[in-house]
Amino acid sequence: MDRYVVFGNPIGHSKSPLIHRMFAEQTGEHLDYSTLLAPLEDFTTCAREFFQQGRGANVTVPFKEDAYRLANTLTERAQRAGAVNTLSKLADGTLLGDNTDGAGLVRDLTVNAGLSLQGKRILLLGAGGAVRGALEPLLAERPASLIIANRTVEKAELLAELFDDLGPVSASGFDWLREPVDVIINATSASLSGDVPSIAGSLIEPGKTFCYDMMYAKEPTAFCRWATEQGAAVAMDGLGMLVEQAAEAFFLWRGVRPESALVLAELRRQLA
Ligand code: ATR
Repeated sequence: MDRYVVFGNPIGHSKSPLIHRMFAEQTGEHLDYSTLLAPLEDFTTCAREFFQQGRGANVTVPFKEDAYRLANTLTERAQRAGAVNTLSKLADGTLLGDNTDGAGLVRDLTVNAGLSLQGKRILLLGAGGAVRGALEPLLAERPASLIIANRTVEKAELLAELFDDLGPVSASGFDWLREPVDVIINATSASLSGDVPSIAGSLIEPGKTFCYDMMYAKEPTAFCRWATEQGAAVAMDGLGMLVEQAAEAFFLWRGVRPESALVLAELRRQLA
């Protein structure tokens, strides 16, 4: 049977095996998907060993940059992201590195939530790997503007420079912004500690602004609770992004697009 894994450290709580097994069952694809705990100091050896037999892998924290360096060829979006979350073994035995995180986000927003991003003013909070991975797919939707706001402004400025050939992207500090925007996407890790980035409530236009947190939890995240308090039209968490990035990887490996909505509904049920 074709073997797939998700590399990470830690990796015990990954939902990827569950998601990919559901995709496989749904599409009738025969594959085996499990977790693989790679040692922090030697992802490369571990990955090379796996790929002697294995067909594909997802890669999560903290190995996405290692996977980027390991891949023999990169997709355009992985090159832009500077990180790889999906590896595929090609017919000639070499490894293709892709990054499906940003595409997963955009699909969750546009397909699952039915939100068109074209012509919208988007505010992206954070300037780490999650933001970098999201920039190319978000700019491809042709927003009117995309502001990257970060606690450490210099990091936002670097990213804005790196992507300014792709669209109207700029950088900001959190407290420089006041005017309402159409979409706010939280890609900081603040939710992990129950914090909310310190942005003005006036950025949310009650009943209009769409808010999205890349994090998810059983209960609404701190950012989603804050957005709801400010009157956001929608406050959505990132569970759908997780499922959609997996669906993109599955499609890349197997050439079949799974019914992600069914899997998302099942995950949501299990989470509750
Ligand atoms: P990831 O790969 O998930 O993006 P990362 O590269 O460690 O993770 O980036 C974390 C992001 O969350 C950064 O933008 C960080 O801001 P700084 O660059 O100023 O460190 C942001 N972040 C983390 N905790 C935060 C908090 N409590 N408030 C606001 N921003 C926070």
